[in-house]
Amino acid sequence: MMMKMKLNLVAVPGIVLSVSIAIVVSGGAKAQSGSASQTTTATAPKTAVQQFKNIQVLKDIPADELIPTMQFVAASLGVECEFCHVHDAFDKDDKKPKQTARKMMEMMLTINQENFEGHREVTCYSCHRGSTNPVAIPPVMSAEMEMPASAHAEGTETKLVGGPTGDDLLEKYLHAAGGNAAVNKVDSRVMKGTITFGDRNIPIDIYSKEPDERISFAHTPDGDSITAFNGHEGWLAAPKRPVREMHGPDIDAAAMDADLRFPAHVKEICTKTEVRGMEKIGDHSAYFVDCERAGKTPLHLYFDEQSGLLVRLVRFGETALGQLPTQIDYADYREVAGVDIPYRWTLARPGGRFTIQLTDVKQNVPVDDAKFAKPPAPPGEPKAPAK
Ligand code: HEC
Ligand code: HEC
Repeated sequence: MMMKMKLNLVAVPGIVLSVSIAIVVSGGAKAQSGSASQTTTATAPKTAVQQFKNIQVLKDIPADELIPTMQFVAASLGVECEFCHVHDAFDKDDKKPKQTARKMMEMMLTINQENFEGHREVTCYSCHRGSTNPVAIPPVMSAEMEMPASAHAEGTETKLVGGPTGDDLLEKYLHAAGGNAAVNKVDSRVMKGTITFGDRNIPIDIYSKEPDERISFAHTPDGDSITAFNGHEGWLAAPKRPVREMHGPDIDAAAMDADLRFPAHVKEICTKTEVRGMEKIGDHSAYFVDCERAGKTPLHLYFDEQSGLLVRLVRFGETALGQLPTQIDYADYREVAGVDIPYRWTLARPGGRFTIQLTDVKQNVPVDDAKFAKPPAPPGEPKAPAK
């Protein structure tokens, strides 16, 4: 339990539960930080088997994808890493569930190979649904269950006929956010507020600068917890822990969070849009737009029917065994220097959720590039994780 608290705290300002969890994997983490700083799209990425000690099934996946894949497995079964792993020795096969999990991975790959032409239709979650014991027998109808299956099929969306197109809605969003000219004038944003997770409230400062730099400092009682992205690499720093590199799908997410001109850029980001229907978000109706991206997982965008503003964004982190969703709900839009920006957002994913409420926002003020420089590893920090 204590462990979980710490993990959440580290994940605080940013985007990345996977990175925070990876903190406990000091061996792998160390190896990765060396390569991540030199990563360019041209060099062949390391595979899992090259980087980790005891990989038998996930051999050929990119090393960067291993931890996110583990997160997917943990979320699918509703367990922590320790369910399968002994503390501080992730390569060991001492626990029975780890051995079972390896067989299950083989099984899942075979099911998809033999029945779905290799498409990943069945994942750990298809059977496990957040539990270690998949249920094989359908339940009897309980008193609370009002209607059979049809009432709770895939969300509450209703199909639209003859409404606006996805492109119309992106255009309306840009207009609602202040228009092309105003949005493209945004060079920097300095934000102050509070981050809340569970019953903890922590002051937070966020600095963002065009084209894609962003750093946040959550001022915890033990010191600052930092999440940063400088345009090509991201990292996390937390009190008493070594600086951690961001990797895999988290880089894509960090780049998006750092984009101050998103309302203008989203039109290029989406190579194809499709309106999927209306959904209720809070007490508002919103259009659900599926946004396809070139070579990346899609985005699900929800635009307020009335204001046209973005009220929800769902993105999907690709892993070797399935996708990990992150949902961000935006609210409390206010105008700052001609653009409407959300003063509150709630980020939720399988591992947890937090809300950031801003109290003060300044736009187009000078922000020194040095602000985004990576902090040095703490002096004398041993490789072993802090307990
Ligand atoms: C349901 C069981 C299960 C859970 C939960 C799980 N893992 Fe794993 N993990 C495995 C299996 C199985 C392998 C080996 C995969 C293979 O052989 O291809 C593995 C391998 C690893 C490795 C590679 C170790 C090495 O050097 O060979 C790391 C690191 C790791 N897991 C980290 C994690 C982390 C971090 C979490 C929590 C987010 C986690 N795992 C959750 C089953 C699990
Ligand atoms: C086709 C359905 C199905 C899929 C897909 C599936 N499992 Fe399972 N899994 C089961 C069933 C059923 C059991 C329980 C078997 C039993 O009770 O003996 C189980 C048991 C397990 C257990 C043992 C749990 C315990 O209490 O010790 C682990 C660990 C596990 N699965 C991991 C995984 C992982 C990881 C994946 C994805 C790579 C996966 N499973 C995919 C059906 C599935």
